[in-house]
Amino acid sequence: MEFNTPLCRNLRMSRPIFGFAHSIDVTAALTNAGGMGIYGAARDAPDAIPEKLRTIRAQVGDKPFGVDIMLPKGMPAGKTLDDLRAELPGPHRQFVAELRDKYGVPEPAGESFFNSMMRSDAFFEAQLDAVLSTDVDFVAFGTGFTPDRVKRVKDAGKPVGALIGLPKHARAALDCGIEVIVAQGTEAGGHTGEVSTLTLIPQIVEMANDVPVVAAGGIGHGSQIAASLAMGAQAVWLGTIWLTTQEHALAEGKVAKLLAAQSSDTVITRASSGKPQRQLRSRWSEEWSAPEAPAPLKMPYQHALVGDLITAVEEADITPLLTEPAGQGVVWCRQVESVAEVVTRLCGETNQALDAMAGMLDRRAPAVL
Ligand SMILES: Cc1cc2nc3c(=O)[nH]c(=O)nc-3n(C[C@H](O)[C@H](O)[C@H](O)COP(=O)(O)O)c2cc1C
Repeated sequence: MEFNTPLCRNLRMSRPIFGFAHSIDVTAALTNAGGMGIYGAARDAPDAIPEKLRTIRAQVGDKPFGVDIMLPKGMPAGKTLDDLRAELPGPHRQFVAELRDKYGVPEPAGESFFNSMMRSDAFFEAQLDAVLSTDVDFVAFGTGFTPDRVKRVKDAGKPVGALIGLPKHARAALDCGIEVIVAQGTEAGGHTGEVSTLTLIPQIVEMANDVPVVAAGGIGHGSQIAASLAMGAQAVWLGTIWLTTQEHALAEGKVAKLLAAQSSDTVITRASSGKPQRQLRSRWSEEWSAPEAPAPLKMPYQHALVGDLITAVEEADITPLLTEPAGQGVVWCRQVESVAEVVTRLCGETNQALDAMAGMLDRRAPAVL
């Protein structure tokens, strides 16, 4: 038995599942499995984006896929990464040097987003221009929507969504003309807020009126999809669950940690980016929360401070410090599977949950005490 919603029909999805990933292959596989793959382009140089989206298009044909970009508030204007590095406080640099020595981390051999790029208005505008030059079907703002940017996406003929974690952010998104609100609870992997998915969704559904709401944060089991639909969401948006799929092909060390993790093995820390991010607990988050550790700097200074170290930890596979943004739903990353297998499991569980609910409830009978 299949199920979909008005939002699915509008966006030409046969299943109410959006899948976010910084992976071309996961994005394409999700779309091919009947949901909508959302390619996370936030870490890509603007000139790399069109080619990546063309690669996805080649894999999905005319089936719909989306892209997500983000610009956090408060990025300093007119500064380069080197400018930021020159301003880093001595004690912070010292702490990072000590971590490097303690764990035997070598110098980074290459460049990654973390040690070669910097978020700024100009970088983000160039990413948006690059996205709008393509035939991508749907554009989502992780953060950074403004009335002007939303209008540009609409003028390009693309439906536009935004991620929010609080009612006041949803209000701002609705006022800007956002057409799909992705309400993300604190359980989510990546940058996240403090309100739980179960508490957030009904509030946002109520205020969004006719604008469709999509539920995100901690979802990895079909019963949660049934619950999200029951709360009025028209689809779900999952990130963590794809990290252990075959298509994602993350480094073995990370996959092993993800497969072993329970919900309580994730933690919110500012240590990686400067903004609160839920990630796998590791020596990285523990070192930065030790009493003698300096408080992480604000974004993008923390990013400038730790970019080389993070890059080298990944390159050299320094297991104790290895981490990955991951949500509490990591407990459902149980084995390496294909994206299609995960989607089939989720849909089967959703159907079971809907049937079980219908079978369990006797809505005609008077209460028997
Ligand atoms: C590894 C990872 C990276 C993420 N990066 C971004 C990002 O660049 N932009 C964004 O809007 N959301 C990002 N997110 C959040 C997802 O879009 C999504 O809202 C979240 O993963 C949903 O919760 P879940 O992780 O519990 O499934 C990221 C999530 C993960 C797990």
